[in-house]
Amino acid sequence: MASTRLLAIIAILVQGLINGDSHELPSFDPELAVAKVWKLLKARAFKEACNHNGRAMLVIPEGNFLLGSMLLSGPCTFQPPLMVQFNGNLLPQGSTSTAENADWITFMNFNGLFISERYHQWPRREGGMEGCMRWLPSKGCCKLLNHHPHSLVLRFKNLKLIKMNDVLISGITSVNAKGFHMMISVCNNFVITNVNISAPDESPNTDGIHMSKTNKVRISDSTIGTGDDCVSMIHGTTNVTIENVKCGPGHGFSIGSLGHYDAEFDVFGITVRNCSLAYTENGARIKTYRNESPSKASGIIFQDLTMDHVKNPILIDQEYATIPGSVDSKVLISDVEFSNIRGTTISKIAVVLACSQSFPCKGITLKDIHLEYTGDPGHNEDTPFSSNCTNVKVNYIGEQMPPPCA
Ligand SMILES: *[C@@H]1O[C@H](CO)[C@@H](O)[C@H](O)[C@H]1NC(C)=O
Ligand SMILES: *[C@@H]1O[C@H](CO)[C@@H](O)[C@H](O)[C@H]1NC(C)=O
Ligand SMILES: *[C@@H]1O[C@H](CO)[C@@H](O)[C@H](O)[C@H]1NC(C)=O
Ligand SMILES: *[C@@H]1O[C@H](CO)[C@@H](O)[C@H](O)[C@H]1NC(C)=O
Repeated sequence: MASTRLLAIIAILVQGLINGDSHELPSFDPELAVAKVWKLLKARAFKEACNHNGRAMLVIPEGNFLLGSMLLSGPCTFQPPLMVQFNGNLLPQGSTSTAENADWITFMNFNGLFISERYHQWPRREGGMEGCMRWLPSKGCCKLLNHHPHSLVLRFKNLKLIKMNDVLISGITSVNAKGFHMMISVCNNFVITNVNISAPDESPNTDGIHMSKTNKVRISDSTIGTGDDCVSMIHGTTNVTIENVKCGPGHGFSIGSLGHYDAEFDVFGITVRNCSLAYTENGARIKTYRNESPSKASGIIFQDLTMDHVKNPILIDQEYATIPGSVDSKVLISDVEFSNIRGTTISKIAVVLACSQSFPCKGITLKDIHLEYTGDPGHNEDTPFSSNCTNVKVNYIGEQMPPPCA
């Protein structure tokens, strides 16, 4: 690694260079470099950008920069969007102890944010964020994590976006987060494209993109491989499209866990299409807790997905995290279509639809499913390649492999 300078984020305020009347996103101009106004304090840099009256831009210059936990919070006065350009890399600064309960970079409470790599080029250049490697000594960092499966607050996120509207994230790389790579909550109108998210497959809770209480998100043309869900969508997630994403390793595309907390918001309008999954635990999954918390999940489409050695390619699991004495899930799953799902699986029971006894799934369609078993030969010889459905009546259309539930 090149010499790592201990330096904060640097601000460049771009004034007068970009037509203030234009409401279009300005294009990145290398000549802007001449207008650099360097500010050495990170807080001051953001504050200045935030309080600016025209267009504002934060630039992470070329090189590697150590950066501690940082909260970038509005309200702001700049003319949206705030541009954040990665020309170099951010590495987390600080010891494991101070980092243990903190998130890394949080954007909160303002409208208009455009995070991108330099000049918005494709293929992407250097530019990224590295979450875990520096927080804990030596390799295999993520394994050393304190694992709190039911406590979201204790997990460290690389990039957290709270109460943000109109956000574009493009061309950045997020490596080895200690927890979620990106967490989005109480937000509206996001585009995430050309991002590369990676963490070791054994690293716990390193979800690629996790969202809740968020409407209108489009994730496309990206590569996500982590130790947990590639994308996880929990309560209050609505109107999401995910397309052209390569997922794996990891736990696949997941709606849920739902029915976990009190007073959850419904989930609806989720489409995952033209994506590929390789060596993942799950493919297309909806999971809900056996719990008292009621909600609905509907209008969900998984379409044109290719599976490569996926363990559970098609899975509705309403028995998630069953604890002794727990009740049937009260999440009603309806209007879900799995369409044109192809490829290979390592499970003899490749389609599992385990719905709630008290709230059976409704309007579940499986259309053109062609999966092939590629597990251990000589293993599970007695189990036929099959599907398992409980508390659901499936509407089958077209080819079905494995064979449908009787
Ligand atoms: C994504 O980032 C990882 C880690 O830096 C790298 O190994 C991999 O080649 C990248 N993938 C793509 C598609 O750029
Ligand atoms: C989701 O999209 C639909 C159709 O575009 C729209 O009617 C609905 O209001 C959106 N949902 C929310 C929560 O805004
Ligand atoms: C499907 O995704 C691949 C890349 O993952 C892309 O090359 C292709 O254009 C996409 N097809 C459609 C119809 O979007
Ligand atoms: C099918 O699913 C039900 C409910 O999850 C489970 O109890 C049963 O053991 C499964 N059957 C097989 C053959 O795996």
